[in-house]
Amino acid sequence: MINKVVEVAKEAGEVIRNGFRSNIQIEFKTDAGNLVTNIDKASEKIILEFIKKEYPSHSIIAEESGNVSKSSEYKWVVDPLDGTTNFAHGLPIFSVSIGLQKNDEIILGVIYDVMRNTMYTAEKGSGAFENGKKIKVSTNGTLLESNLVTGFAYDPDKNFTEALKYFGDFIRLTRGVRRLGSAAIDFCYVASGVFDGFWEAKLSPWDVCAGLLIVEEAGGKTSDFKGNKVRIDSDSFLATNGNVHTKMLEVLGK
Ligand code: IPD
Ligand code: CA
Ligand code: CA
Repeated sequence: MINKVVEVAKEAGEVIRNGFRSNIQIEFKTDAGNLVTNIDKASEKIILEFIKKEYPSHSIIAEESGNVSKSSEYKWVVDPLDGTTNFAHGLPIFSVSIGLQKNDEIILGVIYDVMRNTMYTAEKGSGAFENGKKIKVSTNGTLLESNLVTGFAYDPDKNFTEALKYFGDFIRLTRGVRRLGSAAIDFCYVASGVFDGFWEAKLSPWDVCAGLLIVEEAGGKTSDFKGNKVRIDSDSFLATNGNVHTKMLEVLGK
């Protein structure tokens, strides 16, 4: 199954790559900063056609076209283009993210970093991989030596004061904090040891489904900001190498 998902992620990625820095059509979604382009939609069409053809009995949550509800224990969770603002502005950091749940447990995750032509994959219990090579989280155990990443919700009313406070706190306490603009890539970089931790509130299921599994399968730890087990519809997300998890929770608890 995972090989087929990898193929469709590549196919969608090719459409995105061809659309990059071309004459794209941008529309605004509900929030002012929340964009969608014709390329997001074209990518989603490819992925949804694949799922509907191969797994017609499965449910789907997809960012641009909503839900397909079936009485199935399987649910696909699809972000056809994670990092749309980067894409729309010509910044080459964006991805395709496809996750699969069985009875609410994430069992498969595929994230394609389009411009780096890098595929991240995980199946429950089988480890995490970058272009087929096993990956592991970092081993660093101190905040002082940590390289972290975060993101901000499109709607500044959602949690802006809190988000800026955490940003300031972690900048003071660590080696650095980055904001890349693709939550799916943020998770992959935690899984491959580039970042020691990623935190963000108010993400959507399609931003996190594949990434959570990839981090866990790379030996990392995930929770919400209070340390509780996360679901794909949780309100906040923390993904780390495990060693700095409690230290980051202490900061997020203040
Ligand atoms: C966004 C990206 C970004 C995160 C936002 C997401 P989109 O997804 O993942 O990194 O900070 O919260 O909404 O809209 O580009 O698919
Ligand atoms: Ca997204
Ligand atoms: Ca998206």
